[in-house]
Amino acid sequence: MCERCYPGNNAVKHIPYDQYLDKVNYRLSHSGVFLTSHKDKDNTMVMGWGGITWYWRRPIFIVPVRTTRYTWHAINETGVFTVSVPLNDELREAMAFCGSKSGRDYDKFKECNLTALPGKFVRVPVIGECNLHYECKVVFKQTMEPSLLDGGIRERHYKEHDFHTMFYGEIAACYLTE
Ligand SMILES: Cc1cc2nc3c(=O)[nH]c(=O)nc-3n(C[C@H](O)[C@H](O)[C@H](O)COP(=O)(O)O)c2cc1C
Repeated sequence: MCERCYPGNNAVKHIPYDQYLDKVNYRLSHSGVFLTSHKDKDNTMVMGWGGITWYWRRPIFIVPVRTTRYTWHAINETGVFTVSVPLNDELREAMAFCGSKSGRDYDKFKECNLTALPGKFVRVPVIGECNLHYECKVVFKQTMEPSLLDGGIRERHYKEHDFHTMFYGEIAACYLTE
């Protein structure tokens, strides 16, 4: 285990942040990935937008979270999150649950039998049933300004006025688990 890592018995293989860009983009646009946070408890939701980019000379994972999500409060307050990417379709049921139920009402890790492996650089777990993980620290955040948004997109995606906050998370670690 690396010196800066938090304790945990999970062996990981660190990889360059951009090694799996294609797979991450595919998963985001086809089924979603897990966005995990921790405030009072571990919680995860499904995210289908956002992505990995390069900004301020550092690798960044942009995660768009509507202000109505339980997740929003956790990330907004703690400034850290992880993204776990399923590389196959085995977690379909868990994704359906985590993408529709709120951490306000459920312990999703328990309900879906998901394993919370301790994060190595941030105090947020990653999901043991996934193989590819990103640990991120927020370096910038911005909630969408409705007047600046294309009218068609606003009408189609924000009828309830629940706009996204874009959290820009510097990727502190990217690794594979078995
Ligand atoms: C495929 C899929 C993609 C989703 N993408 C997002 C997203 O990018 N941002 C977001 O705020 N919610 C997204 N959601 C909805 C959240 O996952 C869902 O509302 C979840 O219940 C929020 O959980 P929380 O209240 O515990 O944070 C998506 C749901 C699905 C099924």
